[in-house]
Amino acid sequence: MLYPILDAVREAGQIILSAHDVQVSSKEGIGNFVTTYDVKVQSFLREKLLSIVPDAHFVGEEDKVHDDALHGLAFIVDPIDCTANFVRGMKHSAVSVALARDGVLILGAVYNPYRDEMFYAELGKGAFLNGTPIHVSDRTLSEGVFCIGTSPYHRSLRERTMTIAGRLMERMQDLRRFGSAALDLTDIACGRVELGFECILQPWDFAGGAIILTEAGGRITQLDGSPITLDRPCSILSGNPLAHSAFLEENLAK
Ligand code: IPD
Ligand code: CA
Ligand code: CA
Repeated sequence: MLYPILDAVREAGQIILSAHDVQVSSKEGIGNFVTTYDVKVQSFLREKLLSIVPDAHFVGEEDKVHDDALHGLAFIVDPIDCTANFVRGMKHSAVSVALARDGVLILGAVYNPYRDEMFYAELGKGAFLNGTPIHVSDRTLSEGVFCIGTSPYHRSLRERTMTIAGRLMERMQDLRRFGSAALDLTDIACGRVELGFECILQPWDFAGGAIILTEAGGRITQLDGSPITLDRPCSILSGNPLAHSAFLEENLAK
């Protein structure tokens, strides 16, 4: 099952690379856009993934009504994570696919087509980047770099985001804002970054990256340390175990 899924995700990435005449329209929320390619990539993945696992539910970002992610098998799909980067030609966006069974993540694939980087993991089998095992770094909070998501579609969370980021600036080496929540998680998984957070994310933003991160030895919870939710939005705190536990012990989201 893994390799056909990775092939489908890689092919979805090729659709992103081939993009031309991209039509952009607005969605709900500030600066929230959907393009013809978000829709095209999601339709492609729906068809391919359901041909591989026909009895799975399909939870895709671009659907108006979202299927059940908690019962039976469910694909949780973000066809283009960071449409804003895609529209601007920033070359830092990803296809993110997760498979859950009864609400437990069992497989994840996050693909950055611009760098041809395929991150993937299966439950209990470790995490990989293009076939090579990956692991989180062992840098401490104070030795680490952190990345943030700014919950761009929820202006009311900006102040809280910046308050937490300000505390981390005091405690850590530096800040990054790359734009893709899925790639933030895989950057932590392979040891490029030590910690990340966002005050609200949708399950399709983090599901694929979450299992890759935990299989790489990392941790992902909500900002208060409680478990992430696959059926509704939640906050995200992700990191290597040293940085993640220091954040919670020091109560940096207070
Ligand atoms: C967004 C990106 C961004 C994050 C937002 C997400 P989208 O996904 O992951 O980094 O800050 O919260 O919604 O809408 O471009 O797929
Ligand atoms: Ca997303
Ligand atoms: Ca998206």
